[in-house]
Amino acid sequence: MMSISNPPLQGRVAFIAGGSSGINLGIAQRFASEGVKVAIISRSQEKVAAAVGEITAAGNVAMGMAADVREYAAVEKALAAVRESYGEIDIVISGAAGNFMCPAIGMSANAFKTVVDIDLLGTFNVLRASFAYLRKPGASLISITAPQGAKPEMFQAHVCAAKAGVNMLTKCLAMEWGPAGVRVNAISPGPIAGTEGVARMAADPATAAAWEARLALRSYGSKQDIAELAVFLASDQARYMTGAIVDCDGGASLGDSSADALTVSGRR
Ligand code: NAP
Ligand code: COA
Repeated sequence: MMSISNPPLQGRVAFIAGGSSGINLGIAQRFASEGVKVAIISRSQEKVAAAVGEITAAGNVAMGMAADVREYAAVEKALAAVRESYGEIDIVISGAAGNFMCPAIGMSANAFKTVVDIDLLGTFNVLRASFAYLRKPGASLISITAPQGAKPEMFQAHVCAAKAGVNMLTKCLAMEWGPAGVRVNAISPGPIAGTEGVARMAADPATAAAWEARLALRSYGSKQDIAELAVFLASDQARYMTGAIVDCDGGASLGDSSADALTVSGRR
């Protein structure tokens, strides 16, 4: 007999750090379309209000407030407000990040610290503070990392160091919190079209095209590609996954795939 199941995330509550733009807003919108009550934080009150406005204008449920992930108390205050309004939190996305291209020799200590503080300390703050507010067992925590967390890149020492830390933090928390029924995973997106991250790393069209040509799949990803993976990881269908760093990157983490092996071998 065929069974019809409810949407897997209907009625759940998601807390999305850095959710006011880009990839994380794409995840927030996708969750909201599944019937998830979505709460967004980022530094800019204006950006948060605009993001919440977009989601509610589509007929879905969202709230938000300004909070800097570098400030533990601000994150905790936001979590408390979300629980007050929506109840216990089922899903956490830690996606706030900062990036710029800069050779290490030209980078100030404060520039390095700033990115590590947003990406790595910020992720610790968001995940650590959320623990007391989670519905347990069953909660799913997802950090947004990057290929730089596993593969060195020129002019990205600060981001590589920070995202490598996010990857290891993901695995450590998965071990410590698994017994409480809390899953901890990370998504590692490749270059995603129409985002701030790509604009900062490939500022001109020639650089953008060269980057695309090095990807095994020869194409940038979309915000929807990442949102679909987030829906899966947040759902009970991923109930046996924890401590995973899931690449969704067109092959970016594999390295330079620009040589055309099939043409060279005459097998295309
Ligand atoms: P984005 O639109 O700039 O998203 C970053 C978000 O984080 C913004 O909403 C920003 O809002 C918020 N934010 C920054 N600093 C914060 C802080 N201190 N406290 C709280 N919120 C803060 O960039 P994106 O390109 O979509 O990147 C989103 C995530 O995907 C990041 O984790 C990034 O590392 C990862 N990623 C992106 C790509 C890509 O191709 N774009 C590839 C791999 C990984 P406010 O300015 O209001 O704070
Ligand atoms: N190259 C080198 N150093 C830079 C830099 C750049 N492009 N941009 C900022 N810095 C340095 C600053 O000079 C400062 O160091 P200093 O005090 O020694 O001069 C330090 O970084 C902090 O800069 P500040 O502007 O005070 O930081 P902030 O906390 O206001 O903003 C950033 C954080 C710098 C990461 C900013 O780019 C940002 O807000 N990014 C969020 C959006 C984003 O990056 N999205 C893509 C995600 S992949």
